[in-house]
Amino acid sequence: MTQDRIACAALRSRIMSADEAAALIKPGSTLGLSGFTGSGYPKAVPLALAARMEAQRAAGNPLRVRVWTGASTGPELDGALAKADGIEFRLPYNSDPIAREKINRGTMEYFDMHLSQVAPMAWQGFLGPLDTAVVEVSGIREDGALIPSSSVGNNKTWLDRAQHVILEVNSWQNAALEGMHDIYYGTALPPNRVPIPLLRPDDRIGEAYLRCDPNKIVAIVETHTPDRNLPFAKPDAAAAAIAGHLLEFLRHEVARGRLPANLLPLQSGVGNIANAVLSGLLDSPFEDLTAYTEVIQDGMIDLLRTGKLRMASATAFSLSPDAAAAINADMAAFRDKMILRPQEISNHPEIIRRLGCIAMNGLIEADIYGNVNSTHVMGSRIQNGIGGSGDFARNAYVSIFMTPSTAKGGAISAIVPQASHVDHITQDVQVIVTEQGLADLRGLSPKQRARVIIDNCSHPDYRDALNDYYRRALEHSYGLQSPSLLDEALSWHQRYVRTGSMRA
Ligand code: COA
Repeated sequence: MTQDRIACAALRSRIMSADEAAALIKPGSTLGLSGFTGSGYPKAVPLALAARMEAQRAAGNPLRVRVWTGASTGPELDGALAKADGIEFRLPYNSDPIAREKINRGTMEYFDMHLSQVAPMAWQGFLGPLDTAVVEVSGIREDGALIPSSSVGNNKTWLDRAQHVILEVNSWQNAALEGMHDIYYGTALPPNRVPIPLLRPDDRIGEAYLRCDPNKIVAIVETHTPDRNLPFAKPDAAAAAIAGHLLEFLRHEVARGRLPANLLPLQSGVGNIANAVLSGLLDSPFEDLTAYTEVIQDGMIDLLRTGKLRMASATAFSLSPDAAAAINADMAAFRDKMILRPQEISNHPEIIRRLGCIAMNGLIEADIYGNVNSTHVMGSRIQNGIGGSGDFARNAYVSIFMTPSTAKGGAISAIVPQASHVDHITQDVQVIVTEQGLADLRGLSPKQRARVIIDNCSHPDYRDALNDYYRRALEHSYGLQSPSLLDEALSWHQRYVRTGSMRA
């Protein structure tokens, strides 16, 4: 594959094995790794580094590094390094179960941050120096320009900021990816920042390739390894009901003249419910849709295939193995319908506000006033992280959150008197949908919100208890703008911690 994928003859002398490349990484160093969901992450060097970490740990001389990525990655990166106890510090998003366990046990520091802010913060210098970038690409051109892989994430920033660069050239990635990317090099720090000239989701404002100073490239490793994402579950009854309520809401908004007939650019969070909503759009009356979002998942591929979705802009693919294989076999047909951009652009507040995205994200719990917890179970145990939900929710045209009304087989109500942790304040939450119904919170005061959230979204098993709480809060609260009984609100959560059910 060397000639095909590494066309730059001068760089071929840097080709080496993953073990040799991993040996170049110094203990305690900060790594900027590619990867966004299970796409485009390096798959060989982290595994080799993890083996080195295991060996050093056994010899009583532990080797740990600081890890920066685009978002979550695959098991060969986060899983392997976490298992080897090799991650001292991690940002900005994680969904790996082994890393999650270490974070919640307190043995790994984790900085969970808005995904749009990672690159600017790296440039501002707040995050410290970056020693080595380890970036998967799908090829290197004759002139040394890098052909990006199935995710862009923060790669541009890592390549620019890092002292040394290790490239993985993955020939499993389809060569027809070339030309799909749009890498914008016009960002700057204040006071030199200028407007980003992106006016429509399909605008191209940058270059198809990543630049990299060849003098910084210390190693090139050839791989042929698939991306790894989990398959989506078939939408269950709750997911289908949520999708139904949401589509009805969108039809209603079009009928009232508050949304155009082809809607506004869609942003869809990760997970099964988001995927069910996208599947629901297949049978909807909406045509000529666009997406300005973070990841392209299975449901979007189906919409693109049928032409219902005209184009999708994102920073990464997040496809099930079947969808990844299918699209890989047919990449050329999709190239003009998809654009992959750096995450500072895919999630940029300025652009999201300008385009007027319809943001649809999942949640862990929402309280009766519409504060949303997306990250911390029982206020303290991190699930994944805020990801791009904050970037989109605050700046969207309509900010929608969706969830089943209960979790853990019905033992927990997703609607609670007071969220145990808040990622999205009420001002950033305009619509909440559960399988029970939809609460349109726009223009409502806190007390009006409480009524509609309890009535429309809570599960019948918990509705009486929520009504009872709210009635007493109206009688005994310190103030009546957002009536609350702090001790009791907390005891909802503590009840689950004590007994395993909020019902007990
Ligand atoms: N209390 C306790 N646990 C809860 C819970 C609650 N109210 N709600 C969900 N959970 C648990 C589930 O039981 C499940 O645990 P398990 O893996 O041990 O079974 C886990 O949280 C994930 O829940 P699931 O129902 O599978 O949800 P999901 O896949 O729809 O994800 C979020 C929901 C909130 C975790 C997910 O949307 C997320 O990480 N959001 C933040 C990032 C984001 O929005 N990104 C997109 C922006 S572009």
